Amino acid sequence: TYIVTDACIRCKFTDCVEVCPVDCFYEGENMLVIHPDECIDCGVCEPECPVEAIKPDTEDDPDGKWLALNSKYAEVWPNITVKKDPPPDYQKFETETGKLEKYFS
Ligand code: SF4
Ligand code: F3S
Repeated sequence: TYIVTDACIRCKFTDCVEVCPVDCFYEGENMLVIHPDECIDCGVCEPECPVEAIKPDTEDDPDGKWLALNSKYAEVWPNITVKKDPPPDYQKFETETGKLEKYFS
């Protein structure tokens, strides 16, 4: 499966949702997640994200933290299929790392 990771937090460009053939993105206040059981591993969303937040779960997630987070919140947050504007202050967070610890609630 593919997963959404730290770079998405407080940027939320939502370009990803427009290309997913199975509409498996879910929206929280500060980030999106992918439902790992619905994702068909097509990979088309990965290059769409301007901040490279989308990755295969086999990459950059050695302890499974991001996969677990995507699985958990995809069950709770509402589905999103239409692109919307990013948060007004998204530029402040584009290059920041470790956003999960700072901003995720
Ligand atoms: Fe959707 Fe394909 Fe991305 Fe999975 S890899 S979330 S199916 S676009
Ligand atoms: Fe997030 Fe990138 Fe999609 S910032 S909302 S994963 S396009």
